[in-house]
Amino acid sequence: MKVSSFLHFAGFGIKTILFRKKDPVLGTIIVTDKCNLKCKHCSVNNITAIVHPYEQIHQEMQQLYSMGIRILFFCGGETFLWRDQDKGLRDLVIEAKRMGFLIVNVVTNGTYPLDLPEADLILLSLDGDKKRHNEVRGDTYDKIMENISKATSDNICFYMAINQINKEAVGKVCEIARDTKNVRAVSFNFHTPYPDTKELALSKEEKAACCETIGQMMKEGAPIFNLKSVFPYLINNNFPTPCYQCVVMENGKLSTCGRCIEVPGLCEQCGYFFVAEYTLLFRGNIKVILEMMRTYLKYV
Ligand SMILES: C[S@@+](CC[C@H](N)C(=O)[O-])C[C@H]1O[C@@H](n2cnc3c(N)ncnc32)[C@H](O)[C@@H]1O
Ligand code: SF4
Ligand code: SF4
Repeated sequence: MKVSSFLHFAGFGIKTILFRKKDPVLGTIIVTDKCNLKCKHCSVNNITAIVHPYEQIHQEMQQLYSMGIRILFFCGGETFLWRDQDKGLRDLVIEAKRMGFLIVNVVTNGTYPLDLPEADLILLSLDGDKKRHNEVRGDTYDKIMENISKATSDNICFYMAINQINKEAVGKVCEIARDTKNVRAVSFNFHTPYPDTKELALSKEEKAACCETIGQMMKEGAPIFNLKSVFPYLINNNFPTPCYQCVVMENGKLSTCGRCIEVPGLCEQCGYFFVAEYTLLFRGNIKVILEMMRTYLKYV
């Protein structure tokens, strides 16, 4: 991360903590909900299957920028399915950087060729070793690994949603992240139980066991892009929700924190690590602040 970006985020953090502000800093644009996969744990694919036009996404980017947002995620559906005439996902990333977003990340299932050197991070979903990943995501593991080996940049960070199918594969995914060329780190979430995927949720004891494994892998030097200091809050689901510093834009509609804010009762069972990390950070939790600075400076 550039020093100027670090200073911007430090200033934002200090103001937010001291004055208990609720201004957002992280925005996600859903470029399409169309997807080529139908993962077992996912409730947000192919609801409309609309690919939003470039002009609309450009306006959404400008709106988020004018709200003070400086960390931008492009998400889906599958982001690599996004196109508008001669423009593709890479053009969106380049334009976001040109506009002045300080960090621009893309979330993908990794089944399309990876050519996004301008992105700060490509969050690529890997949901276990080959067997468990394919059980969740269909027969995609080999294709993903091939795309990673041929990627044009080394800005890939695995993104794993831990659930009943893949909970035993957490350590293995840390090892794959450590040993795979072009992969910088791995970032975890726990399954967030939408009404149609409740059965995949982990119990408190299962979450504790996963955090134990992740903590052990951190000690052994595996590249893990999460904060150990928030694990107790994630295990007990007692972190504040929603995250007011995060917003999501989908088809012109702005939501605080996530699209999931509209699902009754879901925030109390939220499994997204970023929510715990950001809400505790902006409430001034000293351990989280220090660990966040160390971790972000290492991986972004
Ligand atoms: C909705 S997908 C969109 C981007 C892309 N298609 C992908 O799979 O990475 C974004 C991330 O959300 C995760 N995800 C989907 N449903 C989830 C849930 N109920 N709880 C936690 N993570 C979930 C996916 O595993 C993926 O890492
Ligand atoms: S690839 Fe992503 S959007 Fe598509 S079904 Fe899987 S998790 Fe959902
Ligand atoms: S806190 Fe609520 S809105 Fe935010 S990600 Fe979790 S479930 Fe979604």
